[in-house]
Amino acid sequence: MHDSLKMVNRCASCGSAMRISYDYALLKNTIDRKAFGSRAPTLWKYKELLPISSVANIVTLGEGWTPLVATRELGPGLGLKRLYLKDETRLPTGSLKDRCATVSISKAVESGVEAVVVSSSGNGASSMAAYAARAGVSCYVFVPSDAPTNKLIQSMAYGAKVTRVKGGVAGTDLMAGMVGKRRGWPNLSTAATYNPYALQGQKTGAYEIAEQLGWKVPDWVVLPVGSGNVLAGQWAGFGDLLELGLIDRRPKLAAVQAAGCAPFADAFRRRLAPSEVKPWGHPDTIAGGVRDEYPFDVELALPALRESGGTAVTVTDQEIMDTAGYLARKEGVFVEPTGAVATAGLRQLVEDRAIDEDEVVVTMLTGSGLKDPQHIGSKMPEPPTVEPGEEAVTRLLQPQ
Ligand SMILES: Cc1ncc(COP(=O)(O)O)c(C=O)c1O
Repeated sequence: MHDSLKMVNRCASCGSAMRISYDYALLKNTIDRKAFGSRAPTLWKYKELLPISSVANIVTLGEGWTPLVATRELGPGLGLKRLYLKDETRLPTGSLKDRCATVSISKAVESGVEAVVVSSSGNGASSMAAYAARAGVSCYVFVPSDAPTNKLIQSMAYGAKVTRVKGGVAGTDLMAGMVGKRRGWPNLSTAATYNPYALQGQKTGAYEIAEQLGWKVPDWVVLPVGSGNVLAGQWAGFGDLLELGLIDRRPKLAAVQAAGCAPFADAFRRRLAPSEVKPWGHPDTIAGGVRDEYPFDVELALPALRESGGTAVTVTDQEIMDTAGYLARKEGVFVEPTGAVATAGLRQLVEDRAIDEDEVVVTMLTGSGLKDPQHIGSKMPEPPTVEPGEEAVTRLLQPQ
């Protein structure tokens, strides 16, 4: 098999994480804004910037080109004139991890892999399981013992072999690593330290944001951080476009973490080097997708955040839930708690005067509310059950 077809997750000689790079000088001759603009609206329109050698190997469910919508109430309410929501709930399995999965599973197919393993809080697992199903590849999934039932059902429905593991992310990572090693199956967990193809998929969000804004770069992109893969991915994506001369600068990034699990925001504030970052003692937040006690991609994400001139803030679980409710009621988008984390950080960013009212701001809604409805549902009253008829109509229409 030619080397370019092989799935290589870590360097065979030194064992360190692989980084994938492109020959920008060559690519500049073949792609431009017009070429991208003329293609079908999936993330594969950027195929020259993705590490798959043959389009015949692409495993797709029509992912990408998610809506970028101007807010109706949220922006004005915060005093922001140009606030956009990048609605990643619209990806095939309901979270932005589908970007990672389409690229990772395509590469697995290209290299003839028969099975894959993944450690995940739930969304990465569902995504890999769906694309593995589509490709006819076996998928072994390891999730924390308290992962939301809906996410597990989703992975199991796709035919993945799902195992709940005690000990949080550390436990699931250990299991995925051990099973993968024993059988020689690639670990497709969505952190660059395990799987460089995940970041390659994730970076396409940045391409889409730039193209959807008419190749104008926003001033800010506001992102949730668990492992840091999403953030590092956006930075890499804008970096590719800059190298190709398709944009003239990169945006500032804002990292938002839950106050109950904030090793990354803490490291940023204390000006720590990535090597000085320690696991968070007792991760405690309802936002399972960012409950990573250690930000596995800190080596990429922390320098990216600093180089962008950006900042980091934390939000409480109450702020996350309030934001999720507001997004549903006022903007018509139903997100899971993790999907509301970035947007929940906006108030602080405006109050701190990090973000100015005239700046163009994009906040990423990363996961659908259907993934983890228990938290928001538990706060709702039981809807009434009625006998159909005049009396029920009168009662329903009574002024409150
Ligand atoms: C919905 C959602 N948003 C955000 C994240 C955080 O992404 P990352 O771990 O790459 O920082 C996750 C991770 O699982 C997620 O599921």
